Amino acid sequence: MSSTNRTNSADRHKYDYYVTPQKPILQFLNCFSKYENVFKNPNTKILDCCCGGDELHEASYPVAIRNIYGNVDMDLYDIREDSKADFKEDYLLADTKDRYDVIITNPPFDLSYDIIKKALDDVKMGGFVIMLLRLNYFGGKVRSNLWKEHMPKYCFVHNKRISFTDNGKTDSIEYCHMIWQKGYNPEFTDLQVIIDE
Ligand SMILES: C[S@@+](CC[C@H](N)C(=O)[O-])C[C@H]1O[C@@H](n2cnc3c(N)ncnc32)[C@H](O)[C@@H]1O
Repeated sequence: MSSTNRTNSADRHKYDYYVTPQKPILQFLNCFSKYENVFKNPNTKILDCCCGGDELHEASYPVAIRNIYGNVDMDLYDIREDSKADFKEDYLLADTKDRYDVIITNPPFDLSYDIIKKALDDVKMGGFVIMLLRLNYFGGKVRSNLWKEHMPKYCFVHNKRISFTDNGKTDSIEYCHMIWQKGYNPEFTDLQVIIDE
């Protein structure tokens, strides 16, 4: 392994970089768009705040979104220099308030709570925050306040475990896309299972 690759591996670990495969993102987008028109609206402005990608991989969410909806208006942020971001910045420090109708990503797990809170603050009123998270994210005392203040509008659970590695291996964790709509705090979340056999 070259020293460059060694540095990249360390960076990946440090920034919790994993590549989300296209299939579950496309499945999610198609299901979600049966209920909300936001991706189909030509005026929608989208932010992927932790877009990922590297020399070997495209940024997963932007590619999937453009695959379905064409050349949408989208900004890409990521903290890594070798990412596919337009803005190589720490999202938590970025000035992105009230600019976007949708903020979508698979966030780094350790920063997910802070990223969700900032995205909910940043997104325009009525806009959507969409995050790929572990299904058991709903549990745990640490997030009680999040659910009290911001209950997701939808949760799309992927019944098939998602592999985040090039060798297709999975761990024993179920994932879901959680969707919040700013200004809307329902008593409970609508849940749908995306069935992939
Ligand atoms: C789990 S990976 C997901 C990458 C991509 N969204 C995907 O789904 O394939 C998390 C990404 O967040 C980036 N990241 C970590 N901390 C960040 C921060 N503070 N601001 C912006 N991006 C960050 C990492 O570099 C990495 O690309």
